[in-house]
Amino acid sequence: MSQRETWATRVGFILAAVGSAVGLGNVWQFPFQTGANGGAAFIVVYLLAVFLIGFPAMLAEFVIGRRAERNPIDAFARLGHRNWRVVGILGTLSAFWILAFYSVVGGWVIRYIIGSVRGAYFSGSEAYFGAVSAGPEAVAFHALFMAITVGIVAFGIAGGIERSTKLMVPSIVLLLGGLAIWATTLDGGGAGYAYYLSPDVDTLVSNIGSILPAAVGQAFFTLSLGMGAMITYASYLGRDDSLPIDGATIVVLNTFVGLLAGLVVFPILFSLGIEPGSGGLGAAFITLAGAFAQLPAGRLLGAVFFIVLLLAALSSAISLLEVVTSYLADNTSYSRPALATALGGAIFALGIPSAFGLSILAWYNAIAYNLLLPLSVLTLLVFVGWVDTGDAVAELRRGTGLSESGAVAWLWFVRTIVPLGVLVTLLLGLQTLAVDAGLLAEAIV
Ligand code: PFF
Repeated sequence: MSQRETWATRVGFILAAVGSAVGLGNVWQFPFQTGANGGAAFIVVYLLAVFLIGFPAMLAEFVIGRRAERNPIDAFARLGHRNWRVVGILGTLSAFWILAFYSVVGGWVIRYIIGSVRGAYFSGSEAYFGAVSAGPEAVAFHALFMAITVGIVAFGIAGGIERSTKLMVPSIVLLLGGLAIWATTLDGGGAGYAYYLSPDVDTLVSNIGSILPAAVGQAFFTLSLGMGAMITYASYLGRDDSLPIDGATIVVLNTFVGLLAGLVVFPILFSLGIEPGSGGLGAAFITLAGAFAQLPAGRLLGAVFFIVLLLAALSSAISLLEVVTSYLADNTSYSRPALATALGGAIFALGIPSAFGLSILAWYNAIAYNLLLPLSVLTLLVFVGWVDTGDAVAELRRGTGLSESGAVAWLWFVRTIVPLGVLVTLLLGLQTLAVDAGLLAEAIV
């Protein structure tokens, strides 16, 4: 088999991982999860979840990936624990599953760029969303989004993913920063900042049972954990970078972009008197498009906003496709373009049902958030914390000045607090799924 690929530069790896992390999760889900879960109170729990649970879990994925230099499935066998391949299979299946509906939403975004330029949603943003979010047109744009994703992955790690994310990530930050500065000029936007930035302790205490699973799920989704993506990206490192420093850079940049997105979205909504967090998965598209329709230069602002969203979605989608592609690239002699195309086609097919109804898409999303992600992260933590422990400490320290006791503290965290937090999240998530299933059954009967 030919030589395995690697990243050309360290910055390239970091930007690719930031590109994976920064996605629809930051610009679309995050502000609306915040709105739906009590505003700034949610942000407090979310930030704790990102740094106390997400960051250590990300390091666990890095440690597995860099040490094994293999795709997430074969990594476990390579580390001498064949039976644990099931954890990698779970992560890879999750990537397959999530990309299926992520690409449908990516398709909406392309549709909205065109719609912004033409002012197509200006006369009724709700009707427009209904028309474009489900049906043959949604399938067509889903296909287009997937085709672009395949096109980038086909060019490989350094030539496709690294090169494209080096352009996309800085563009996202600049454009979003520009929009955030513009948002400060909005009349009445001040209420948005207050809502967003000053937590209400009563809300936090009385709603912690629902805030916690939403915040942890959001932390995993936004950091691209539980889908083998960070294992895969770290497997192409092949060098002695500092994993803790790279990981911290990625987590901080991702959090920064999420907060920046909030500084765009909340002032816009409040300046127009729209309550954030109402409605389901379509809410972001409907309310924001409705807001652009009322603003001066709304076509331009709308187009810029949805271009940011597209770049963010693409740089995440390629990491999901890379997870599944890397498995076959490591194990077969088919060319990368052929593999990416075949897999992209299969994932496209899996996503088609979710392009035919918002409730189907919400179901795909709920399975991912409540079941696949926490289960996958939990099993991974058990592996690193309890099964493969000794080597993990050495791997984390490779290429850093991190002391032995620092690495041991991380491992202790990964053995105890982090999996406990994830377990609670998983149980609460399963409860949510069961309630949803009950409601569905009642609706059918
Ligand atoms: N982190 C991405 C987002 O916030 O939109 C979604 C994602 C990408 C999740 C890649 C998982 C993944 F492997």
